[in-house]
Parts: sequence; C-alpha cells; structure tokens
Amino acid sequence: MMRQAGRYLPEYRELRAQAGSFLNLCYNPELATEVTLQPLKRFDLDAAILFADILLVPQALGASLTFAEGEGPVLSTVTSDRDVAALSLDGVVERLSPIYETVRRVAAAKPSHATLIGFCGAPWTVASYMIEGRGSSRQNARLAAIAGEPWFARLIDILVEASVGYLVAQLKAGAEAVQIFDSWAGDLPAHEFRRWSLEPIRKIIEGIRAEIPGARVIGFPRAAGTNVADFAASAGANAVGVDSSMSVEAIRRDVIPYCAVQGNLDPLQLLAGGERLDRAVDELVTGLNPARHIVNLGHGILPQTPIDNVIRFIERVRQHDGA
Ligand code: CP3
Repeated sequence: MMRQAGRYLPEYRELRAQAGSFLNLCYNPELATEVTLQPLKRFDLDAAILFADILLVPQALGASLTFAEGEGPVLSTVTSDRDVAALSLDGVVERLSPIYETVRRVAAAKPSHATLIGFCGAPWTVASYMIEGRGSSRQNARLAAIAGEPWFARLIDILVEASVGYLVAQLKAGAEAVQIFDSWAGDLPAHEFRRWSLEPIRKIIEGIRAEIPGARVIGFPRAAGTNVADFAASAGANAVGVDSSMSVEAIRRDVIPYCAVQGNLDPLQLLAGGERLDRAVDELVTGLNPARHIVNLGHGILPQTPIDNVIRFIERVRQHDGA
C-alpha cells in the first residue's frame, strides 16, 4: 500500500512523537527502519516501502524544508536562474546517507519474502514543490513548464541527476526495486507531460540502468489519464503505478501490453470498507492477469483508515491467490 507506514498506525504515531518531528524520523536510521517494518509486522504484505520523503532531495540540494504541523511541507522557493544556481549537486548523494543506512538495516531485518522498495519523487513533482514552496497549488510551476523557462529546464536536469545518484545508492544499499512518484503528473497538458514528466523519468531510469543493468523501476505518473499509455510504452519502467481513475479495461489496453501494473484501489474505498470493498477488490484482482499486476492502492492510504479495513482488504486479495 502506498504510504503503508504512516499516521493510521498507532505505533507509527508513537515513534513519530518520540522522534520529535517527521524529518527527525526520516533521518534517524534506527527509528526509520522500525517504521518501515511496522506494517509488515501487522499485515500480510509482500513489500516494505522505505520510510523517507520525496522532499529530502530538494533539502539535500540546499532548499530549506520544514513540515508545519497539520499543514504539510513548506520549502524555500526556486523561481529564477539565481535560485537554481544556488542549488548544489556537489555532495547531494552523500548528504542523504542516513537514508541508505536505513535501507541497509531494513534489508537485513525484513522477512525474506518481502521485497524492499526504495523511492524518490519525479523531477516534475519535486520541482513543483520547490517552485511553489508548498503543495497547495501548481500554478507557478505549470506556468514555468508551459513557458519553457530556461531556469525550469535546468532545475529539472538537476533533479534528474540527483535522483539517479540517490536511487543508485538505495539500490546498492539493498533496495530491490525503486519507485518514482510523479504525484502531479496529471497537471501537465499532453505534450508538456512528455517533456517534463515522461522524459525526465525515462532519463532517470536510463541513468540507473547504466550503473545497475537490470535495475527494477516502478513509475507512477499519477492522474496522467490518456498519457499513461505513452508512459507505459516509452519510459522504460518495469511497472507503472496507476491511480484509481483507470478502469481495468483501460489498464489492459494501455499498460499491460508494455509492462506490469501497480494499483489501483481507491483509498476512500479502503476507508469505507464493507462489502463494497470486497467487490472492488474482486473486480480489480480478477480483471487483471496476476503475473502482470501488483495489487496496491491508487494513491496513499488516508490517516483515518480503520486498521480492520486494511486487514479485510489484504485477506480478500489473498483469497484470490493461486486461483
Ligand atoms: O509507506 C510509505 O509510503 C512511507 C514513505 C513515504 C512518505 N512520503 C512518508 C510521509 C513516501 C513514499 C512518501 C512520498 C511522498 N511525499 C509523495 C509522493 C506520493 C504521494 O502521496 O503523492 C509526496 C507528494 C510527498 C510530500 C509530502 N510528504 C507531503 C505532501 C506530506 C504532507 C501530507 C500529509 O499527508 O500530511 C508529506 C508528509 C509525509 N510523508 C507523511 C508520511 C508518513 C506524514 C507525516 C506525518 O507524520 O505527519
């Protein structure tokens, strides 16, 4: 489940309080390891997702970052050549070394049946947070992309380079696959999508495989609609994560011919629970070839989600195993 380690779990909230802040938790390998493993202790899951955040990369590049309580992330903004020139690729991979330590510890401690997935944010989504300074709007970022601002193109290049180094380091530390989250991919018009979502992700995947041939990568161009087909055909990912808006028919048509699919139960369906959850799971699981499908949510689990619904979801998926 996306965001499977998080606030819906009381044991997460406890460690988060102990760490003092979300960022302290991310940078503390001992606690971050425990948080990563918490969902696996409770649920019959196939994967552990590294506990970190996509905004650690801009912080390592020199942006200031805080998580205001109840408000989400707040960053210093990047809106000019000068702001981009102030970012530093030098040492960026090394500054994120506590994260690789977490990966090493999780890889050593996790049950062997569980796959460890590392991750980063895609350049477009990370750039949009850097340009806006917060997650509430993408207006300025979209304008910079559509206007083709040279500083914006340079920012994307910097993020591509940092992301390659960051993901290669995670894979070398023991991540068995990495996921690239383009949460705001749906905010780009079609040809801008190709240029600023698909193309940078394709370059990241190419860069990773130049160092680690055969590295396994999941791309997640959230809410990309009809652009998902183009992404599945040409980004070079082994699997594409899809959001809940895509029907199984559309997934079979647009993704399955090219690569595996990950998704796409609506997080609100999980929150709502009951028999409608069972039916949604049945439709999703029977609608797609299990050899090409990683069952997951279409976006992050919501903090209010009852734990019993998570158990029900997983048990229902398991009833189909081997069928
Ligand atoms: O199990 C996991 O997936 C945990 C690792 C993880 C987190 N963030 C932890 C987190 C992952 C993979 C992410 C990715 C992430 N972070 C994305 C892409 C995925 C998506 O949801 O679209 C984005 C856009 C971010 C940026 C971010 N981090 C925001 C906007 C917020 C605040 C929103 C919120 O839900 O409060 C965060 C904080 C964050 N990242 C939390 C967690 C568990 C909540 C922090 C807390 O404890 O208060």
